[in-house]
Amino acid sequence: MTKKRTNPPPLRVLAWAAIAVLVGALGALTLGWYRAEIAGDTGGLLSKPVATIGGPFELVDTAGRTVTDKDLLGKPRAMFFGFTYCPDVCPTTLWEASQWLEALGDDADKLRFVYVTVDPERDTPEQMKDYLTAFDPRIIGLSGARPQIDQVIKGYRVYAKKVALEGDDYTMDHTATVYLMNGKGEFVGTVAYQEDQESVLKKLRRLIENG
Ligand code: NI
Repeated sequence: MTKKRTNPPPLRVLAWAAIAVLVGALGALTLGWYRAEIAGDTGGLLSKPVATIGGPFELVDTAGRTVTDKDLLGKPRAMFFGFTYCPDVCPTTLWEASQWLEALGDDADKLRFVYVTVDPERDTPEQMKDYLTAFDPRIIGLSGARPQIDQVIKGYRVYAKKVALEGDDYTMDHTATVYLMNGKGEFVGTVAYQEDQESVLKKLRRLIENG
């Protein structure tokens, strides 16, 4: 009676395939690490600014003063777009932004956090002012006339869409990403909705460091 093979060919083929996949994965990991080393540690920011996001704007702050993109140069900034009637994304992000500013300590003064409304019909400068009292007082609220808001929405490639609710009420679907701009007003990165605070602070510290 012949003994059956304990390791029939199909299994052996599978084993070799598994080893090949493992070696491939290790190779890819090593290569990824090597490339990251060559590119240098960017602190979670882009290695080069992207020129197609951003651009000029002219808006109105909560005191009714005109604020242009040029007024904000010289300090890096985090920019966020939303509306004060927002049920979740805006209050969450503005609350988290208040935590970031607190965690940065004195360095918080080396950057600006700017909140731009995509719903200027309801978010007058006065409404923005009232709403922002719930958050860090350093957060800059910007509103403006509809064409001014449309210009900044377009420049920053922001998605913002009015969605009808019951009656004559409405809400706004909008981009939940925070845009990171350097002191020259160039787009250098993003913070995702509800991103881990440690990861955000790493980006903000690098943003400040780069100026
Ligand atoms: Ni919102």
